[in-house]
Amino acid sequence: MSDLLIYGGKPLNGSVRVSGAKNSVLKMMAASILTKEPCILRNVPNLIDVQRMLELLVDLGTNAKWLEPGTLYLHNPNGISTYGSERLMREMRASILILGPLLARSHKAHVFYPGGCAIGPRPIDLHLKGLEALGASIEKEQGGVLYLYSDGRLKGARIYLDFPSVGATENLMMAAVLAEGRTIIENVAREPEVVELQRFLNTLGANVHGAGTDTIVVEGVEFGQLKGADYTVIPDRIEAGTFLIAGAITGGNVKVYGARADHNEALLYKLHEAGVNLNIGPNFIEVAKGPKARFTPLRIRTMPYPGFPTDLHPQMTALLALADGTSLITETVFPDRFKYVHELIRLGANISVEGECAIVKGVPKLKGAKVEATDLRGGAALVVAALAASGDSTVQKLEHLDRGYENLTEKLLSLGALVERYN
Ligand code: EPZ
Repeated sequence: MSDLLIYGGKPLNGSVRVSGAKNSVLKMMAASILTKEPCILRNVPNLIDVQRMLELLVDLGTNAKWLEPGTLYLHNPNGISTYGSERLMREMRASILILGPLLARSHKAHVFYPGGCAIGPRPIDLHLKGLEALGASIEKEQGGVLYLYSDGRLKGARIYLDFPSVGATENLMMAAVLAEGRTIIENVAREPEVVELQRFLNTLGANVHGAGTDTIVVEGVEFGQLKGADYTVIPDRIEAGTFLIAGAITGGNVKVYGARADHNEALLYKLHEAGVNLNIGPNFIEVAKGPKARFTPLRIRTMPYPGFPTDLHPQMTALLALADGTSLITETVFPDRFKYVHELIRLGANISVEGECAIVKGVPKLKGAKVEATDLRGGAALVVAALAASGDSTVQKLEHLDRGYENLTEKLLSLGALVERYN
């Protein structure tokens, strides 16, 4: 288990460049199953989840290699196994995204319920319901095994998602690419990563439209029509947001290169409302200390994109722990995402959780302590809080953060943070 030792209370200053987006690249890796031509992905972050997805694809038979750091080559010229490894599928949520491509290309798939951060039940009912609408039959076998198959090509259908699920939207987009006829998916997720997946699929030769709105239309194409792609992954908006919050909470001046204002509007609005100075450039966003000594308390309600992102709520809670008054954070996407709060309290925060709400009573200072990361973004909240806390902190179980933050220690050091990683 790795620990990060943080000597906090020092403003971060300088600039950092965000890596490629975890929640975009994982889906494009899965989408490479759809074509017999080679795919090259650039700006791929070196993260545990990327390594796991790579291992899962190689286990299925994908010819995969790193052409250079950050550039991945994926090729499935002669078909692919349809049996997903249980060990690998149970390690992360994104593994379930091999399901749509396997069904589309091979008309069958043996998969397992996916793992993922313990932030609530991670059901896949919307994925399965949509795939059944496309003509897949589903057998649930012992031990969480799912066997899906179709009698030949999937058939285009009209699908309504009860919730704008990101993963279900993406799985169904990919499944529909090779289906016969038109598929209309309504009430879809509108995240930038969904728009990117559409762009990637169309680069392969698919015919997908509407991503970014609440309805996606897919005109099915023949398998032989799909080509390869050479595609560059967008910057990670959640990593960018995390560094902006780290700069703000420490009262420093931090420029985040690669951060896109159009992907982080909700966060930028809330940081401005909290009294943080923002400077938005052509290829960076900069935060600086505002005129007031302490942050203005806020009300934040997480929502599907373009609402305030659930993946930045823990980091914002850390910032609001120092606000001059009481803030309210309502988490509407994942019911069990407040596990990190009891660790924040060890750092001196005054927070109580009632149902889907966290009531955050601002305190003048946080104090260093030993804390334990509970999940990826909860762990990020503890790091940004410890950077602001006076004195020494240790954040344990850094593996959680290694899933979504590439070279975190090096990036923090480049901003002048006094941190040291102990493996
Ligand atoms: C993606 O998870 C992201 N993960 C999550 O990021 C992110 O928090 C989430 O989208 C919301 O933006 C990846 O892209 C790998 P959902 P996903 O399906 O697809 C319920 C991170 O920190 N639901 O939109 O799993 C579900 O239980 C991670 O990088 C069903 O009920 O999210 C949840 O309450 C954490 N049935 C809500 O929808 C389903 O079939 C949102 O889930 C699917 C989902």
